[in-house]
Amino acid sequence: MEKIIILDFGSQYTQLIARKIRELKVYCEIKPFSLSAEEIKKIAPKALILSGGPASVNQTDRPYPDKKIFELGIPILGICYGMQVIADAFGGKVSYAKTREYGRSKLLINKKDAIFSNLPESMTVWMSHGDSVAVLPKGFINLAKSEGIPCAAFVNKTKKIYGVQFHPEVAHTPKGKAMLANFLFKIANCLPTWTMTSFIQEKTEEIRDRVGDERVICALSGGVDSTVLCTLLHRAIGNQLIAIFVNNGLLRKGEPEAIVQRFKNLFNLRYINAERRFLSKLRGVIDPERKRRIIGNEFIRIFENEAKKIGGIKFLAQGTLYPDVIESKSPWGGPSATIKTHHNVGGLPKRMRFQLIEPLKELFKDEVRVLGKELGLPDDILKRQPFPGPGLAVRIIGDVTKERLRILKEADAILLDEIRKANWERKLWQAFAVLLPVKTVGVMGDQRTYEAVIAIRAVYSSDAMTADWADLPHSLLGRIANRIINEVRGVNRVVYDISSKPPSTIEWE
Ligand code: XMP
Repeated sequence: MEKIIILDFGSQYTQLIARKIRELKVYCEIKPFSLSAEEIKKIAPKALILSGGPASVNQTDRPYPDKKIFELGIPILGICYGMQVIADAFGGKVSYAKTREYGRSKLLINKKDAIFSNLPESMTVWMSHGDSVAVLPKGFINLAKSEGIPCAAFVNKTKKIYGVQFHPEVAHTPKGKAMLANFLFKIANCLPTWTMTSFIQEKTEEIRDRVGDERVICALSGGVDSTVLCTLLHRAIGNQLIAIFVNNGLLRKGEPEAIVQRFKNLFNLRYINAERRFLSKLRGVIDPERKRRIIGNEFIRIFENEAKKIGGIKFLAQGTLYPDVIESKSPWGGPSATIKTHHNVGGLPKRMRFQLIEPLKELFKDEVRVLGKELGLPDDILKRQPFPGPGLAVRIIGDVTKERLRILKEADAILLDEIRKANWERKLWQAFAVLLPVKTVGVMGDQRTYEAVIAIRAVYSSDAMTADWADLPHSLLGRIANRIINEVRGVNRVVYDISSKPPSTIEWE
C-alpha cells in the first residue's frame, strides 16, 4: 500500500495534515520527527511531510530530523517549521521576521510550478509564524511571496523538496487541499486508491488470516466505535466473534433492551446484567474520580470472568482509534493536568493474556463513521451523541442509588424525547439531564413539596475540547421542564445550565 509519512514537530495542525491527505484517498501516518532515515527507508513511503511546530530552528534544543532523510530520494514537503528545517539543513538562513504573520495573508506566486498547478496567481493562505526564511539555501528557487515575507514557498527541483511557510492543511487556506493534491499526485506520483471499501477488504482478510479458526471476544457498548468494530469483525469471522455486553445499570432508559434487541440476532452476543453489582460497589461513593475508577475496575473484573467462563479464547478485539496511538503528541511531551480520567472500554485488561486485535487503530473518529456507513450501519447508530463510559453515575451528583437512577433516567428520557421531536438532536453535541444533590420547596395542588432538582445540559461542540451552551428555544425548554416536573415523581424544579467549556466542563462530574 502506498504511504505518506508525516514527521511531527509538534504542530497543533499535524493531525489535520493527516486527515486532509486521507481525504485525498492516500494513506498516511504520523511519526515522531526523530524517526531515522533507516526506519523510514524500511517503511518505503512515497513522500515525506515535515509538519509545523512551535520551536525555532535557531534555538539550541530545537527538534531536528535525521539529516539523511534528505538523501532518501523521495519528495519532501516542509510546512511552516518544516520549511525552516529544510532551509536550515541546506545552508539557508532563517530569522525572526520583522513582520510576524498570524492569520490570513495573500500569497503571490512568482514562479510556475507543479505544486501550484491549476491554481490562481494570488490566493488567501493561513499564516502562523514568527521566524521565516531570510536567505534561500543553494539549489532552491523562490516560488511565492506573501504580504509579510519575501519567501513563502520554495523548491529544490532536482531533489523534489518543497517548503511552504503557510498552512495548506487548514480550512482558512481555501486552496490548500488542492496544493496538497498537487504534491501527492503530480510530484509524489501517488494514486488515490485508499478508500473504505479497500480498507474493509484489506482488514477482513488480515483478521481472517490472523484469527484462523480461533475465537475473538469483544466488548459491545452500543456506541459508535464498538458497534463498528463488532460489525467489521463479524463480517470477517462471523460467529467466531463473541460480543460481550455488560449492562452496568448506568445506561439511559430503555438502552440495554434496545442494544440486546438490535444485536442479538446479528452477533454471537452474551448479555450480562450487572446492575446490582455496580450499584452495590457505588453505594455511598460521592467523589467523581472514585466513581470512574470503581466502574472501570468492575467492568474489567466482569469481562475477565466472562472470558474465563467461555474459556479457550485467544484474541481480544479493541476499538482503539488513531488519536490514541499516535506515538508523538508533542516532541517535548509536557505533562498536562488530568481534569477527568476518561475511562473507556478501550482501556481493557492489559494483564489478560489475550492477543490484541485493533483494526480501527489507523482511523480517525469521522473515518470510523464512514466505515460504519460502508458496513451498512444506520445513522441512528453512527450519528448518535457521545455517552460517557461511566454513564449516568457522573450525572448523578452525589450518591448513586436505585431511586436516584430512576429519577434521572425518567427525566433524561423526557428531555431526549422533546429534543428529538423538535429536531434538535443532530444540531447538538450532547443533551442530557443531571440530578442535583439538593432539594427545594415547591407547591403541587395545595401541598408543599420538598423534592429534587434536575439540571438540563445541552451543548454545541465539534470535538468536546471546547463547548458552548445551546440556545434552545424557550418554548422547548418550557415543554421539557413542564413534562419532567409533571411526569417524574420526586422532582419539583428544573434549571438550565448556561455555562460554556472552558471554564466549565460538559459533564458535571
Ligand atoms: P468533559 O466533561 O470533560 O467531557 O467536558 C468531554 C466529553 O467526554 C465525555 N466524557 C467521558 N467519556 N468516560 C468517557 O468515555 C468518561 O469518564 C467521561 N467523562 C466525560 C463527555 O460526555 C463529553 O462528550
